[in-house]
Amino acid sequence: MANFHRVVAIDGPAASGKSSVARLLARRLGYSYVNSGAIYRAITWHILQRGIDAGDTERIAQTVEAARISCRFRNSESHILVDDFDPVEHLRDDRVNENVSRVSSIPRVRKTVVREMREYARHRDLIVEGRDIGSVVFPETPYKFYVDASPEVRLRRRAAEGQRDKIAMRDRADFLRPISPLIIAKDAQVIDTSHLTIEGVVKEIITRLKEMGLPI
Ligand code: DC
Repeated sequence: MANFHRVVAIDGPAASGKSSVARLLARRLGYSYVNSGAIYRAITWHILQRGIDAGDTERIAQTVEAARISCRFRNSESHILVDDFDPVEHLRDDRVNENVSRVSSIPRVRKTVVREMREYARHRDLIVEGRDIGSVVFPETPYKFYVDASPEVRLRRRAAEGQRDKIAMRDRADFLRPISPLIIAKDAQVIDTSHLTIEGVVKEIITRLKEMGLPI
Protein backbone atom coordinates (compact mmCIF):
# COMPACT_ATOMS: atom_id res chain seq x y z
CA MET A 1 0.00 0.00 0.00
CA ALA A 2 1.39 3.34 -0.99
CA ASN A 3 2.80 5.24 2.00
CA PHE A 4 1.40 2.69 4.42
CA HIS A 5 3.03 0.10 6.62
CA ARG A 6 1.54 -3.38 6.73
CA VAL A 7 -2.03 -3.64 7.99
CA VAL A 8 -3.88 -6.77 9.03
CA ALA A 9 -7.64 -6.04 9.15
CA ILE A 10 -9.87 -7.99 11.50
CA ASP A 11 -13.58 -7.28 11.23
CA GLY A 12 -16.56 -8.92 12.86
CA PRO A 13 -19.68 -8.36 14.97
CA ALA A 14 -19.75 -7.52 18.68
CA ALA A 15 -18.26 -10.19 20.95
CA SER A 16 -16.93 -12.26 18.06
CA GLY A 17 -13.57 -12.42 19.84
CA LYS A 18 -11.86 -9.95 17.56
CA SER A 19 -10.30 -7.76 20.28
CA SER A 20 -8.63 -10.65 22.10
CA VAL A 21 -7.51 -12.14 18.80
CA ALA A 22 -6.18 -8.84 17.47
CA ARG A 23 -4.28 -8.08 20.69
CA LEU A 24 -2.58 -11.49 20.81
CA LEU A 25 -1.87 -11.46 17.09
CA ALA A 26 -0.24 -8.04 17.41
CA ARG A 27 2.01 -9.36 20.18
CA ARG A 28 3.00 -12.40 18.15
CA LEU A 29 3.83 -10.38 15.04
CA GLY A 30 5.36 -7.41 16.85
CA TYR A 31 2.79 -5.07 15.32
CA SER A 32 0.79 -2.36 17.10
CA TYR A 33 -2.85 -2.96 17.91
CA VAL A 34 -5.65 -0.51 17.11
CA ASN A 35 -9.16 -1.10 18.43
CA SER A 36 -11.34 1.09 16.20
CA GLY A 37 -14.44 0.44 18.33
CA ALA A 38 -12.58 2.11 21.19
CA ILE A 39 -12.18 5.27 19.08
CA TYR A 40 -15.94 5.40 18.42
CA ARG A 41 -16.55 4.66 22.10
CA ALA A 42 -14.19 7.45 23.24
CA ILE A 43 -15.97 9.89 20.95
CA THR A 44 -19.38 8.74 22.19
CA TRP A 45 -18.27 9.22 25.78
CA HIS A 46 -17.01 12.72 24.94
CA ILE A 47 -20.36 13.63 23.34
CA LEU A 48 -22.42 12.31 26.27
CA GLN A 49 -20.10 13.97 28.77
CA ARG A 50 -20.84 17.29 27.15
CA GLY A 51 -24.58 16.69 27.49
CA ILE A 52 -25.10 16.47 23.74
CA ASP A 53 -28.06 14.38 22.65
CA ALA A 54 -27.04 11.27 20.70
CA GLY A 55 -29.67 12.21 18.12
CA ASP A 56 -28.27 15.70 17.48
CA THR A 57 -26.30 14.77 14.36
CA GLU A 58 -25.15 18.24 13.41
CA ARG A 59 -23.88 19.15 16.86
CA ILE A 60 -22.13 15.81 17.24
CA ALA A 61 -20.41 16.19 13.87
CA GLN A 62 -19.26 19.72 14.72
CA THR A 63 -18.03 18.70 18.17
CA VAL A 64 -16.08 15.73 16.83
CA GLU A 65 -14.51 17.78 14.06
CA ALA A 66 -13.46 20.41 16.60
CA ALA A 67 -12.12 17.90 19.15
CA ARG A 68 -8.44 17.06 19.43
CA ILE A 69 -8.37 13.31 18.85
CA SER A 70 -5.00 11.74 19.39
CA CYS A 71 -3.52 8.34 19.92
CA ARG A 72 -0.78 7.16 22.24
CA PHE A 73 0.69 3.71 21.80
CA ARG A 74 1.42 2.09 25.17
CA ASN A 75 2.86 -1.42 25.05
CA SER A 76 2.07 -1.28 21.34
CA GLU A 77 -1.63 -0.79 22.06
CA SER A 78 -3.61 2.29 21.05
CA HIS A 79 -5.11 4.58 23.66
CA ILE A 80 -7.36 7.30 22.33
CA LEU A 81 -7.35 10.73 23.90
CA VAL A 82 -10.09 13.23 23.23
CA ASP A 83 -9.07 16.77 24.08
CA ASP A 84 -6.10 15.24 25.92
CA PHE A 85 -8.24 13.05 28.19
CA ASP A 86 -8.03 9.25 28.04
CA PRO A 87 -11.54 7.92 28.83
CA VAL A 88 -10.39 4.29 28.92
CA GLU A 89 -12.31 3.54 32.13
CA HIS A 90 -15.60 4.67 30.64
CA LEU A 91 -15.50 2.95 27.27
CA ARG A 92 -17.75 0.08 28.37
CA ASP A 93 -20.22 2.17 30.40
CA ASP A 94 -23.86 1.24 29.77
CA ARG A 95 -24.61 4.65 28.32
CA VAL A 96 -21.70 4.32 25.88
CA ASN A 97 -22.88 0.82 24.86
CA GLU A 98 -26.35 2.22 24.28
CA ASN A 99 -25.31 5.18 22.13
CA VAL A 100 -22.17 4.16 20.27
CA SER A 101 -23.91 2.63 17.25
CA ARG A 102 -25.90 5.82 16.73
CA VAL A 103 -22.92 8.15 17.05
CA SER A 104 -20.75 5.93 14.83
CA SER A 105 -23.36 5.95 12.08
CA ILE A 106 -22.85 9.68 11.44
CA PRO A 107 -20.87 10.09 8.19
CA ARG A 108 -18.77 13.06 9.40
CA VAL A 109 -17.81 11.17 12.55
CA ARG A 110 -16.73 8.19 10.47
CA LYS A 111 -14.73 10.40 8.13
CA THR A 112 -12.78 11.82 11.07
CA VAL A 113 -12.07 8.38 12.55
CA VAL A 114 -11.06 6.82 9.23
CA ARG A 115 -8.60 9.66 8.60
CA GLU A 116 -7.09 9.11 12.06
CA MET A 117 -6.56 5.40 11.51
CA ARG A 118 -5.00 5.83 8.12
CA GLU A 119 -2.56 8.26 9.69
CA TYR A 120 -1.45 5.64 12.26
CA ALA A 121 -0.60 3.25 9.42
CA ARG A 122 1.90 5.73 8.04
CA HIS A 123 4.16 5.15 11.01
CA ARG A 124 3.89 1.49 12.06
CA ASP A 125 2.71 -1.99 11.14
CA LEU A 126 -0.80 -2.48 12.51
CA ILE A 127 -3.42 -5.01 13.45
CA VAL A 128 -6.68 -3.06 13.23
CA GLU A 129 -10.00 -4.47 14.36
CA GLY A 130 -13.50 -3.17 13.75
CA ARG A 131 -16.45 -3.34 11.39
CA ASP A 132 -15.25 -1.70 8.16
CA ILE A 133 -11.49 -2.03 8.34
CA GLY A 134 -11.09 -4.35 5.33
CA SER A 135 -13.97 -2.86 3.35
CA VAL A 136 -13.52 0.91 3.84
CA VAL A 137 -10.57 1.97 5.99
CA PHE A 138 -7.82 -0.17 4.45
CA PRO A 139 -9.35 -1.71 1.31
CA GLU A 140 -5.82 -1.92 -0.17
CA THR A 141 -4.48 -4.43 2.34
CA PRO A 142 -4.47 -8.04 1.17
CA TYR A 143 -4.56 -9.25 4.80
CA LYS A 144 -8.25 -9.24 5.70
CA PHE A 145 -10.09 -11.47 8.13
CA TYR A 146 -13.70 -11.61 9.20
CA VAL A 147 -14.21 -13.39 12.53
CA ASP A 148 -17.64 -14.52 13.57
CA ALA A 149 -19.36 -16.68 16.18
CA SER A 150 -22.93 -17.78 16.73
CA PRO A 151 -25.19 -15.26 18.53
CA GLU A 152 -25.46 -17.63 21.52
CA VAL A 153 -21.70 -17.88 21.91
CA ARG A 154 -21.29 -14.12 21.57
CA LEU A 155 -23.93 -13.42 24.22
CA ARG A 156 -22.25 -15.89 26.56
CA ARG A 157 -18.88 -14.20 26.04
CA ARG A 158 -20.27 -10.78 26.93
CA ALA A 159 -22.08 -12.15 29.97
CA ALA A 160 -18.86 -13.85 31.11
CA GLU A 161 -17.21 -10.41 30.98
CA GLY A 162 -19.97 -9.21 33.34
CA GLN A 163 -21.42 -6.95 30.65
CA ARG A 164 -25.00 -6.10 29.89
CA ASP A 165 -24.22 -5.10 26.34
CA LYS A 166 -27.29 -5.50 24.13
CA ILE A 167 -25.33 -6.99 21.28
CA ALA A 168 -28.37 -7.99 19.19
CA MET A 169 -29.45 -4.37 19.09
CA ARG A 170 -25.98 -3.15 18.17
CA ASP A 171 -25.59 -5.88 15.53
CA ARG A 172 -28.78 -4.76 13.85
CA ALA A 173 -27.70 -1.12 13.86
CA ASP A 174 -24.18 -1.97 12.64
CA PHE A 175 -25.41 -4.27 9.84
CA LEU A 176 -28.20 -2.03 8.61
CA ARG A 177 -26.69 1.44 8.66
CA PRO A 178 -26.37 2.96 5.20
CA ILE A 179 -22.76 4.09 5.58
CA SER A 180 -19.94 1.55 6.10
CA PRO A 181 -22.18 -1.23 7.43
CA LEU A 182 -20.65 -4.37 8.82
CA ILE A 183 -20.10 -6.52 5.76
CA ILE A 184 -17.70 -9.27 4.84
CA ALA A 185 -15.21 -7.64 2.46
CA LYS A 186 -15.22 -9.68 -0.74
CA ASP A 187 -11.57 -10.64 -0.38
CA ALA A 188 -11.73 -11.33 3.39
CA GLN A 189 -11.06 -14.75 4.89
CA VAL A 190 -13.87 -15.83 7.21
CA ILE A 191 -13.11 -17.64 10.47
CA ASP A 192 -15.84 -19.03 12.73
CA THR A 193 -14.52 -18.70 16.27
CA SER A 194 -17.51 -20.38 17.99
CA HIS A 195 -15.55 -23.52 18.85
CA LEU A 196 -12.02 -22.14 18.83
CA THR A 197 -9.88 -20.68 21.61
CA ILE A 198 -8.25 -17.28 21.13
CA GLU A 199 -4.95 -19.10 20.70
CA GLY A 200 -6.57 -21.37 18.08
CA VAL A 201 -7.86 -18.42 16.05
CA VAL A 202 -4.50 -16.64 16.19
CA LYS A 203 -2.71 -19.79 15.04
CA GLU A 204 -5.12 -20.12 12.14
CA ILE A 205 -4.64 -16.50 11.09
CA ILE A 206 -0.85 -16.77 11.29
CA THR A 207 -0.94 -19.92 9.13
CA ARG A 208 -3.01 -18.10 6.52
CA LEU A 209 -0.82 -14.97 6.64
CA LYS A 210 2.25 -17.12 6.00
CA GLU A 211 0.47 -18.78 3.08
CA MET A 212 -0.22 -15.31 1.72
CA GLY A 213 3.49 -14.53 1.87
CA LEU A 214 3.58 -12.17 4.84
CA PRO A 215 7.09 -12.45 6.27
CA ILE A 216 6.64 -13.68 9.86
O1 DC B 1 -15.94 -3.25 18.59
P1 DC B 1 -16.92 -2.59 19.54
O2 DC B 1 -18.09 -3.48 19.87
O3 DC B 1 -16.26 -2.05 20.77
O4 DC B 1 -17.50 -1.33 18.73
C1 DC B 1 -18.39 -0.43 19.32
C2 DC B 1 -19.26 0.22 18.25
O5 DC B 1 -18.45 1.07 17.43
C3 DC B 1 -19.96 -0.72 17.30
O6 DC B 1 -21.24 -1.11 17.81
C4 DC B 1 -20.08 0.06 16.04
C5 DC B 1 -18.92 1.04 16.10
N1 DC B 1 -17.82 0.67 15.21
C6 DC B 1 -17.92 1.05 13.90
O7 DC B 1 -18.93 1.61 13.52
N2 DC B 1 -16.90 0.82 13.03
C7 DC B 1 -15.80 0.19 13.46
N3 DC B 1 -14.79 -0.01 12.59
C8 DC B 1 -15.68 -0.24 14.79
C9 DC B 1 -16.72 0.00 15.66
